[in-house]
Amino acid sequence: MEIKTVGVIGGGTMGNGIAHVAARSGLKVILHDIAQQQLDNAVATISRNLDREVAKNKITADDKSAALARILAAPKSAALAEADFIIEAVIEDAEVKSKVFQNIDGIARPGVILASNTSSISITKIASRTKRPDKVIGMHFMNPVPVMTLVEVVRGLATSDQTYATTKQLAESLGKTPVEVNDYPGFVSNRVLMPMINEAIYCVMEGVGTAEAVDSVMKLGMNHPMGPLTLADLIGLDVCLDIMEVLHNGLGDSKYRPCPLLRKMVDAGHLGRKSGRGFYQY
Ligand code: NAI
Repeated sequence: MEIKTVGVIGGGTMGNGIAHVAARSGLKVILHDIAQQQLDNAVATISRNLDREVAKNKITADDKSAALARILAAPKSAALAEADFIIEAVIEDAEVKSKVFQNIDGIARPGVILASNTSSISITKIASRTKRPDKVIGMHFMNPVPVMTLVEVVRGLATSDQTYATTKQLAESLGKTPVEVNDYPGFVSNRVLMPMINEAIYCVMEGVGTAEAVDSVMKLGMNHPMGPLTLADLIGLDVCLDIMEVLHNGLGDSKYRPCPLLRKMVDAGHLGRKSGRGFYQY
């Protein structure tokens, strides 16, 4: 099936980024969210981010208008019936995602691939809630989507070769570099990244160094563009804790236990940039 129209479910941080790159690549986009306010915010954010690309001469003002005109903001999920490929980017909650997949399985045409942008939840499990587990796959974009080139393409136990090939092709047509991985907790990206962030938090908790010291060591000594605690604040400390729990529960190894200081900060509502305070003040 030729992919001309992409459905995106969830208009938050990731959903609006995915809608942005799809529309800029010439695809029609049906962007669905249960919250009208989120849909309005998503379209406004995409418009602002496209303005930045115009200012940097990456696209013209006409390209921007054409990209925006290709996006349909849809408050009802029934609109997704027109989509040739659907990417889900709702909150990182296994139960919510399972319900969303059950619902779109009944709306999407047969043959349409259903992809999830989950950071850590089992693709195999989400797929089992549909009648098309062979057509369910992980398409894990990185934040910010218009800037980061990686897409981790996650094969569930039942994902077919055809589904993988189509998803890989779509990622490439969006200007991204897909990397194939299998479905284990945290995939590759968060299996490697999150324990490093968690260990950096242990260093702060145990007084090995301040947040600034830990970040400086990793930036200057390991050539990381951003220290692990600055990155944790950007991702959201609640999201980091959720992912550590998925690794700990899913892999059953105590090396993935979330740092008590991470838990304490989440309990206090110090979630990083989005709440104005994390390891740093914003
Ligand atoms: P967000 O909280 O910014 O956006 C989630 C959106 O989903 C909200 O607009 C909400 O109204 C909507 N939503 C909730 N339930 C819904 C439903 N039943 N139907 C339709 N829309 C619904 O979350 P964010 O950060 O965009 O994350 C989305 C997904 O992307 C998560 O699975 C997350 O793990 C993953 N992800 C997040 C990254 C990040 O840096 N924030 C990076 C890579 C993946």
